[in-house]
Amino acid sequence: MWSSISSIYLTPSPLHCSTPISKQVGREAEGIKMVAAAGRSREERWSLAGATALVTGGSKGIGHAIVEELAGFGARVHTCARNAAELESCRRRWAEKGLQVTVSICDVSVRTDREALMATVEATFAGKLDVLVNNAGQSLFKDTAGCAGEDYARIMATNVESCFHLCQLAHPLLQNAGGGGGVVNVSSIAGLIGLPALAVYSMSKGAMNQLTRSLAAEWAPDGIRVNCVAPGGVRTDISCDKTIDPELVKKEMARLPMGRIAEPEEVASMVAFLCMPAASYMTGQVICIDGGRTIT
Ligand SMILES: NC(=O)c1ccc[n+]([C@@H]2O[C@H](COP(=O)([O-])OP(=O)(O)OC[C@H]3O[C@@H](n4cnc5c(N)ncnc54)[C@H](OP(=O)(O)O)[C@@H]3O)[C@@H](O)[C@H]2O)c1
Repeated sequence: MWSSISSIYLTPSPLHCSTPISKQVGREAEGIKMVAAAGRSREERWSLAGATALVTGGSKGIGHAIVEELAGFGARVHTCARNAAELESCRRRWAEKGLQVTVSICDVSVRTDREALMATVEATFAGKLDVLVNNAGQSLFKDTAGCAGEDYARIMATNVESCFHLCQLAHPLLQNAGGGGGVVNVSSIAGLIGLPALAVYSMSKGAMNQLTRSLAAEWAPDGIRVNCVAPGGVRTDISCDKTIDPELVKKEMARLPMGRIAEPEEVASMVAFLCMPAASYMTGQVICIDGGRTIT
């Protein structure tokens, strides 16, 4: 399906254009390769059958849910983490469930690890990648005055530099996939609003939001869409961090319209949508999945 939709090209047109998108003359001659979902069956638009995906940090939390969601929709997924034992037990469980998931050990904060990861992905998927999900990330709850240089370097290397460099490394593989997929970054609402004791983390997530917009503009001519999900609190190891001030948690819960944090699957479903042909006209967006926190 992913290769079969690559022959339909999206044409910028007046809002009330009477010609169906599927019949419009594409901008192929100008090098614009954005694949349109129009003209596809509902099953094709809401499927990842035949797609290939790399999801970083898939052994736990949100990344684990994203791996299962993408693979459940028919994608072949490669994922990575640092803890080999956890990764291997995930791989076994996925194989038992019949999900097509391969794994490799990688610390995304290390440049040579990222290069090795992308070489593995290239070999595993025969040089084509439909979807890159930059999910692996770490948090830091510390007053700014107490942040050491090492804290800053670790968060920036893990959350921002890895995201930027993996996008660079994935670019030729995404181009080889022929259009229709793209990149989904996992940032945070901390990159959009001010929260105490989270300055470095928030800066890293704000950078991911801006990278999303910049790359969306730069790579649209290549047929590569770039979007971002910005979760609020999600029930994972990060949100159970004992260094989080309980008073801050109480205040945050009081401002949360839905009155509960998210389950990882509630983030994964939006990521899957953004990867699908159904989202073919979405790029450069930062979508909050936050129970309404950023509207209060
Ligand atoms: N949970 C929340 O409330 C929340 C809210 C907003 C945004 N987010 C964002 O969502 C993403 C996932 O967070 P999560 O809550 O699911 O975290 P999590 O439960 O701690 O899982 C993190 C995953 O990433 C991997 N990972 C961490 N550092 C890595 C590194 N340097 N190299 C490779 N893999 C690494 C971990 O495995 P290893 O430890 O084995 O490497 C694990 O698989 C992060 O980017 C986070 O900032 C989370």
